[in-house]
Amino acid sequence: MGDSPLNLLIFLGSVREHRMATRVGRYMQNLLEKRGHTVTLVDPREHNLGEVQQPLHFYADPTAAPAILHKINKQILEADGFVIVSPEYNSGMAPALASIMDNFSPQSYAYRPAAIVTYSMGQFGGIRAAMQLRQFLSELNLVHMPSMIVISKVHEALSEEGERKVADGQLQRASDAMCKQFEWYANALRKARKAEPGPVLGHWAQ
Ligand SMILES: Cc1cc2nc3c(=O)[nH]c(=O)nc-3n(C[C@H](O)[C@H](O)[C@H](O)COP(=O)(O)O)c2cc1C
Repeated sequence: MGDSPLNLLIFLGSVREHRMATRVGRYMQNLLEKRGHTVTLVDPREHNLGEVQQPLHFYADPTAAPAILHKINKQILEADGFVIVSPEYNSGMAPALASIMDNFSPQSYAYRPAAIVTYSMGQFGGIRAAMQLRQFLSELNLVHMPSMIVISKVHEALSEEGERKVADGQLQRASDAMCKQFEWYANALRKARKAEPGPVLGHWAQ
């Protein structure tokens, strides 16, 4: 079941100058493309959300919403799964990540898997952000993976091009384990959605 190519979105969670997010995003993109999947980055730095006044599903007339919201919503609806890349800021998940993902209905994300990838320059690798992400992703009706990738000392672990600096270490093992599990869930849920679309979610229905 793990062999079918998947259509995946990677959300990045930092807009900071000299951010580490770029290398973690590249790392995940390379890893998943090498496994045969189609990968698109949703980078909060590339999208000007200044004109966004409220989430897409809060607009009484959705046609009045900025085009960028419709574009990303379509990418979300077409995705088989999501990779959530977040640094740890003040013991929590990245504000830039919430500020982009919050713009879309839980119904848009529903019944798809989400892989959590956190990092920090310290030794804990953003584990506190990862724990918060579990709550956040549940609220969006995503199925988050039991396995995670938690990257300590990210500036030492990955090059700017997103290459692992240690070929055969713990990061490689964690990445392989998480990718296998993520592929299994993404394929299983895709089959299930095809057989029977998931129920529409009450008050979030569009
Ligand atoms: C506002 C801010 C708060 C931070 N808080 C934490 C923290 O609570 N725990 C931690 O391990 N690192 C923390 N860091 C360090 C970041 O994990 C590290 O700078 C990381 O590279 C940030 O991701 P970015 O470079 O993609 O923005 C913080 C950094 C910033 C800018």
